[in-house]
Amino acid sequence: MNFNISVMKGDGIGPEIAREGIKILNTIGEKFNHKFNYIEVYVGGCAIDRFDTPLPEETIEKVLKTDALFFSSVGGPKWENLPHDKKPEAGLLGIRKTLGAFANLRPAKVFNELIDASTLKREIIRDIDIMVVRELTSGIYFGKPKGVFNLPNKDKIGINTLSYKKSEIERIVRLAFDIAKKRRKKVTSIDKANVLESSQLWRDTANEISKDYTDVELNHMYVDNAAMQLVRYPKQFDVIVAGNIFGDILSDEASMLTGSIGMLPSASVGGSVGMFEPIHGSAPDIVGKNIANPIAQIESAAMMLRYGLNRELEAQTIERAVESVLKQGYRTPDIMSAGEKQVNTQKMGDLVAKAIIEA
Ligand code: IPM
Ligand code: MG
Repeated sequence: MNFNISVMKGDGIGPEIAREGIKILNTIGEKFNHKFNYIEVYVGGCAIDRFDTPLPEETIEKVLKTDALFFSSVGGPKWENLPHDKKPEAGLLGIRKTLGAFANLRPAKVFNELIDASTLKREIIRDIDIMVVRELTSGIYFGKPKGVFNLPNKDKIGINTLSYKKSEIERIVRLAFDIAKKRRKKVTSIDKANVLESSQLWRDTANEISKDYTDVELNHMYVDNAAMQLVRYPKQFDVIVAGNIFGDILSDEASMLTGSIGMLPSASVGGSVGMFEPIHGSAPDIVGKNIANPIAQIESAAMMLRYGLNRELEAQTIERAVESVLKQGYRTPDIMSAGEKQVNTQKMGDLVAKAIIEA
């Protein structure tokens, strides 16, 4: 088949890992007889440098004509001092919002080969398999009013607003239940309903939706307790559904259970075009060294095949190839432990490509 993919290589380590992701897509193309046409687009710092805006019109137009957006990472010290709406991150939030990609799926799965790369004990993390479903286009990231304002007494006030419409809660919770149905049939809904009104609406809505899913268990957890439970006993979780900021925080925490944030991909779906990106950032401290872990980007290619292009077998082929390379003992520095074989970014990509061909 023919697929048109917009590619956003981004800032920092973005281009280095995007290159490996594309290498893997091309390998899948060869093996399964698909043709991927790549259309390069710019968001974030690289867009600011070229177009003087973090989200050029041209990017949106191009992305909307493609089947999926393969995205790397944005941001870095160079753009840190720009006003908020001109920062690279504004481009990332803008493209998510423009595409209407309201559901961000962030799997946190432990590779048993990497069990010792985690800072937690083996028995705590063995076999964990969590799917964080994060709401992505509303909540405190987008609520109004927002801004920094002068007060009459010369003081200042910074305001962000955490708001959710019932319809926004319904669609994300429903999606979480649909995912749980195909997994271990448990949804944990995250809120702070003991304090926040928007959370009370979130909880009440989740209860209502759950009536349509009698075979899926629903439990509620305050976000602070969830942060604690994730390190205390992570195996209790199957699907976690959370609003934008709670999901942002808990998904970073969940990623560390697996050993490295460099391993975890994400899919942003529900909008006109799906977007697939690592959950980590642009890692300015290791740029250009060829040591970044490309696995999150490679696994994002797998998520793109699964959720964006409907190619389950191809997705699994990538996931198995990654597993086999890890089984053979190859590691980038972030997941390195004694006795294993250290490889760089490019080599890791080559090894996964080879494993795909040999599969
Ligand atoms: C993420 C990131 C972004 C977010 C930042 C870079 C704007 O942390 O994708 O989790 O907060 O959504
Ligand atoms: Mg984050």
